[in-house]
Amino acid sequence: MQIQNVDPTDYANVITKALRRGALLTTKVGDKVNSMVIGWGHIGRIWERPVFVAYVRKNRYTLEMLDRNPEFTVNVAPDGLDKQTLTVCGTKSGRDLDKLAAAGLTPVPPQVVSVPAIKECPLTLECRVLYREEQTFSRLPEEIRRKFYSVEAEDHVCYFGEIAAAYLIGD
Ligand SMILES: Cc1cc2nc3c(=O)[nH]c(=O)nc-3n(C[C@H](O)[C@H](O)[C@H](O)COP(=O)(O)O)c2cc1C
Repeated sequence: MQIQNVDPTDYANVITKALRRGALLTTKVGDKVNSMVIGWGHIGRIWERPVFVAYVRKNRYTLEMLDRNPEFTVNVAPDGLDKQTLTVCGTKSGRDLDKLAAAGLTPVPPQVVSVPAIKECPLTLECRVLYREEQTFSRLPEEIRRKFYSVEAEDHVCYFGEIAAAYLIGD
């Protein structure tokens, strides 16, 4: 397996486009690894460093995992996730099953964080959470609240992850 380190900003467009169809955000606590599909997120610069910001709803198992081990990887398949990965990782909870096994995903040892990359989603960002921000529900426009949040407990927590490594996994 070959690892090609990249400048993450060179891949900002690829990542932004891939998010429209879904990418993975992977977490790890102890021996347990869990990937969930994300569609919301952005790559950029803040506090003089490259950052990926992810939006995780409060009812996700991923949120519990991130709060126990504040590191994650973003796993992008530039041509889109396959259907099984999208279904398993985008609708099932890691509370109930081993989603990597169920979706046939292969963990790859990370470079600097504790959370693995995913072979099938080769464009990888390894991130350490720098900052966690809960949305202030009452400040969201009424139209957004109605469309995206039927109950307050479903609002999002924003995780600002410093990008500690970025690479492509090849065969
Ligand atoms: C295309 C797509 C995009 C999604 N984007 C997000 C997202 O950005 N944030 C989020 O919290 N959930 C998102 N979800 C839903 C989670 O992937 C889903 O609820 C998942 O089962 C949560 O897994 P977990 O409980 O193991 O964390 C998305 C689902 C799909 C299919």
